[in-house]
Amino acid sequence: MEKMLLKILENDHEMVKDLFLRFNQISDNEEKNRVAKKTFKNLEIHGKVEEELVYPIIRNFSEKGKEMIEHGIEEHRKIMELIKQTKGLGIASVDFSPKFQELAQAVIHHVTEEENTVFPFAEKNLGNKLSVGLGAKMLKMKAGEKIARPKLE
Ligand SMILES: [Fe+2]
Ligand SMILES: [Fe+2]
Repeated sequence: MEKMLLKILENDHEMVKDLFLRFNQISDNEEKNRVAKKTFKNLEIHGKVEEELVYPIIRNFSEKGKEMIEHGIEEHRKIMELIKQTKGLGIASVDFSPKFQELAQAVIHHVTEEENTVFPFAEKNLGNKLSVGLGAKMLKMKAGEKIARPKLE
């Protein structure tokens, strides 16, 4: 797989992990809220990029790829649901921080799994397919531009 592509995804993982840490280090509610919002936004965009650009290629590669991706998408759904619940509580709720921690645990579990199983699998088997301009497409997508989805084989 194109180094840049993996690198972008891994950088996202690191950034979100940093945001979770930062949330725990601050006590001001307004600042906590700002960090939480940034975390949600990053997770939403990252999940969308994976599901639209990267996951389909891995899913179509083999039965094992399909299994991995189905599992990944299930975890994305769980993460999105936790984001929705956390947003619904609002920063003023005493349940906000515990729910945000629950989200952190789910995300850390998920990104660890991606980095230990899904990405190495993709890198080993799909180097060429994932390298054709996907890194650039991903950056565009992150910048909020509308882009054509990759052709699936
Ligand atoms: Fe993911
Ligand atoms: Fe990811």
